[in-house]
Amino acid sequence: MAGYLVEDKRKVTTHRLIQMKQENKKIAMLTAYDYTTAQIVDGAGMDVILVGDSASNVMAGNVTTLPITLDQMIYHAKAVVRATQRALVVCDMPFGTYQVNPTEGVTNAIRIMKESHCDALKLEGGVEIIDTVRKILDAGIPIMGHLGLTPQSINKFGTYSVRAKEEAEAEKLISDAHALEDAGCFGIVLEKIPAKLAERVTKELTIPTIGIGAGGACDGQVLVIADMLGMTKGFSPKFLRRYAELGTVMTDAIGHYIQDVKNCDFPNENEQY
Ligand code: KIV
Repeated sequence: MAGYLVEDKRKVTTHRLIQMKQENKKIAMLTAYDYTTAQIVDGAGMDVILVGDSASNVMAGNVTTLPITLDQMIYHAKAVVRATQRALVVCDMPFGTYQVNPTEGVTNAIRIMKESHCDALKLEGGVEIIDTVRKILDAGIPIMGHLGLTPQSINKFGTYSVRAKEEAEAEKLISDAHALEDAGCFGIVLEKIPAKLAERVTKELTIPTIGIGAGGACDGQVLVIADMLGMTKGFSPKFLRRYAELGTVMTDAIGHYIQDVKNCDFPNENEQY
């Protein structure tokens, strides 16, 4: 079943994603942070693999995405790039590496591209970071924007609840989306905003929108792999569909192994030299 929907085996490009929007073909995006997982995700036919700064939560157990460093993101991105043949690999710029000023932003962006060999970067924010976005684009680096719930600003929001429900915030989000498109971004993640607002943004833009908790009208969807595979505990927002219960499968398998070791059932005669 793996990869059965993918006829086009060519490497996905930012240009191809824009074409997919024009052709009304939905874009599938999923996070991955390590070689083994990325190989499976790419082999299944994913269009975009996001080396998200959610690695801070998923891989390192931090409460927020804020602590992850540039070096750590580069480490994860390198592993994912090594495993990926077809998908476009997008790496998050971590908190603190692009908010200070455009020069620092472009310096850090170049480091990620040079060392990880990923295809593009993702930055959270709208007009407040637009000069940095322009400078990074001017350096020849493709950028995906990220609006709505932007986890790097969690301490400002104070909550992970749905964003842009009020008109003023919705209007700001729409103008931010246009500013990112006008600057030259190739796509925008819309996180946890009302479906009607995401639909309006999607219709107004020529670049694809990728939703997470933003409804079905977006040009594509993204989820965090550990959430959709049922590996994370105690996280069940309305937008999350769990496609497997790997947490349970792994616990059972590991329990079985422990039992076999304790009962001297493993290894057996065929499993030794
Ligand atoms: O870091 C991440 O995983 C993300 C997605 C939630 C879009 O930014």
